[in-house]
Amino acid sequence: MSTERWSPESWRAKPIQQVPVYTDQEALANVERQLAGYPPLVFAGEARKLKAQLGKVAAGQAFLLQGGDCAESFAEHSADNIRDFFRVFLQMAVVMTFAAALPVVKVGRVAGQFAKPRSSPTEKQNGIELPSYRGDIVNGPDFSEAARAPDPTRQLEAYRQSAATLNLLRAFATGGYANLENAHRWMLSFVNDSPQSGRYQELADRITETLGFMRAIGLDPESHPEMRQTDFFTSHEALLLGFEQALTRVDSTSGDFYATSGHMIWIGDRTRQLDHAHVEYCRGVKNPLGLKCGPSIKPDDLMRLIDALNPQDEAGRLTLICRFGSDKVADNLPALVRAVKKAGRTVVWSCDPMHGNTVTAANGYKTRPYERVTSEIKSFFQILNAEGAYAGGVHLEMTGKNVTECTGGARVINEEDLHDRYHTYCDPRLNAEQAIEIAFMVADLLNEERAAHPLPVQAAE
Ligand code: PEP
Ligand code: CO
Repeated sequence: MSTERWSPESWRAKPIQQVPVYTDQEALANVERQLAGYPPLVFAGEARKLKAQLGKVAAGQAFLLQGGDCAESFAEHSADNIRDFFRVFLQMAVVMTFAAALPVVKVGRVAGQFAKPRSSPTEKQNGIELPSYRGDIVNGPDFSEAARAPDPTRQLEAYRQSAATLNLLRAFATGGYANLENAHRWMLSFVNDSPQSGRYQELADRITETLGFMRAIGLDPESHPEMRQTDFFTSHEALLLGFEQALTRVDSTSGDFYATSGHMIWIGDRTRQLDHAHVEYCRGVKNPLGLKCGPSIKPDDLMRLIDALNPQDEAGRLTLICRFGSDKVADNLPALVRAVKKAGRTVVWSCDPMHGNTVTAANGYKTRPYERVTSEIKSFFQILNAEGAYAGGVHLEMTGKNVTECTGGARVINEEDLHDRYHTYCDPRLNAEQAIEIAFMVADLLNEERAAHPLPVQAAE
């Protein structure tokens, strides 16, 4: 398969899963034509920069933090939401960087995370059957015929929202907000009295102290841009391939094709069939790629996918995002790690502790028990370490808001509390407190990992 000629539309000749049924094909083609004329959302050079940083992760010299909404929504798009998300993301990253003394590669599930795979193409309520909601880029969440009809013009709105979100994120990342001197100010007001706030304040105090020392010896944010700005990258599942194709561009520097809809794109657990459309599209673009690995993937499947997606064994090209579930990870992950090691392939191992741990509460809410999320992360580290490989990242569904969607955590959320602030458009997310609590836990695990396996070369930069 990998030897066949690739083009941005070669996926169209392959079998495909999870496609919306658009009734007006001409309207769809029109939208795709329009998108093809729009400016790229991200640049090839940025995607290459992320790939280089992920190459460091693969070598055990950095850690990947990837996270954001399960699905972004048109209705919830606001500067406040983006700021709150970016702020909690920065807090998590600074906890990991400082507590574990390791560079953190920051990748949001944001500015393009709109299309959702579904377990069933239709949904039934009170005897009425309608198409399933597939994310705001495809149709609307309301259970009505009008909302659920796939509408191609939603792709133009998704492009517009992604551009606006990226614009604000770029400003936050480089315009002063991410300055380490603001570490105290990133504290979210509602987290002030949280079980984690003392620990975070203490860490922020130590950062302030360190910065004071650095300033005294002549290293200050004014003359050192890395202290006042950060690299922040975007990612999403490359599910709606017509949209992805329309935003595929040739990079004038290298002559290579890049997906310009986001820096990193990933293939979902439901669409990773070797000879199908999603793998075909992704193998031809040079962006860093993610591959979701769930319980049904066998070592042979994985090795064939690695050959197809990263034939040159380029460091940073491929991140394996493992999402087995806390009760399945120990049965599934070790064989995969061994197969990859035996073949001498270079990958980033990342843990998605969300998608294998979704349960339905007695009152009908879809939730994720915090203990199962943390248990999967701990098992992940333990397994990678036992196999002599590096646990390189986490992939989380999280929000900067004080929602009640996942049960548990230090400020315990019970099943009866879920209805309180349950706002997600898709899967349940960690709230800001739970996310920061996870960051501290990961920092501890990273410290243990590095105490057990010191790096041959110290992390630079
Ligand atoms: C997701 O990341 O939102 C998702 C649908 O994941 P997966 O493909 O792993 O089920
Ligand atoms: Co999800």
